[in-house]
Amino acid sequence: MGTTMRTTSCFVALAVALFSSYAMAADAPAPVAKLCVNCHGLDGNSESPLFPRLAGQRADYLVKQLKAYREQSRANAAARDYMWGMAHLLSDNEIQDVATWFAQQHVTDSTVTATADQLRLGDKLYHTGKPDAGVVACVACHGASGEGTPVAPRLAAQHSRYVVAQLKVLKTSERPAASVMQTFARNLTDQEIEALAAYVESMH
Ligand code: HEC
Ligand code: HEC
Repeated sequence: MGTTMRTTSCFVALAVALFSSYAMAADAPAPVAKLCVNCHGLDGNSESPLFPRLAGQRADYLVKQLKAYREQSRANAAARDYMWGMAHLLSDNEIQDVATWFAQQHVTDSTVTATADQLRLGDKLYHTGKPDAGVVACVACHGASGEGTPVAPRLAAQHSRYVVAQLKVLKTSERPAASVMQTFARNLTDQEIEALAAYVESMH
């Protein structure tokens, strides 16, 4: 009897879990459930550090990036290899729908591998920048908790590997819409970039 009850509640739990993942897939805009899910996850909390997290990102920023990929102005190698083809498939309405979807998803905490020294340096740079080198404090635009503001995207809980890669891209002219970041990125050393990336990944 006890075993049957346990088995039954196990089935119920499984059924509820399956149902909610199906229900979620059914709610998601079609391009998310068919395409984006493979790399970014249905809820935008991608597992692989190769793929940026989109959960909780500002919708206006996502729209702008998808259009930049579609018109091929965001043009670093990974943008070309992974996102030009994807964005090419999306209409303006679909871009709006997928952006709204990802912006509404709950952000899960990320697992950070960093030393205490790295996190301390990242914290300092995030809040004070490097005034002598023309690097404005990140907090001014990306927000007190890295949550993003109307002028700049969310960074909190983003995969540090992606943040490092982008800060290196931002040193170049391959993201022309993000030219405001160029001077800052160019005046950060590799060590500072690693520290900042670890710090923002730890923010929530
Ligand atoms: C095959 C894997 C793959 C698929 C499928 C994919 N992406 Fe991406 N996505 C990436 C990679 C890799 C990047 C980082 C590219 C770069 O360096 O600019 C990225 C970047 C992005 C960015 C920029 C994020 C930021 O913080 O600036 C957005 C927005 C995005 N993808 C949306 C989507 C949407 C919407 C879909 C589905 C229509 C999708 N992606 C499908 C791999 C993928
Ligand atoms: C003056 C405002 C401003 C300041 C200060 C600033 N940023 Fe940015 N940052 C932006 C804007 C605007 C963008 C997005 C541009 C776009 O639309 O592509 C951006 C984009 C980024 C991105 C790319 C995010 C993604 O998802 O691809 C990273 C990483 C980043 N900033 C890190 C930093 C760090 C680290 C600092 C501090 C050293 C900093 N930013 C300071 C305005 C700012």
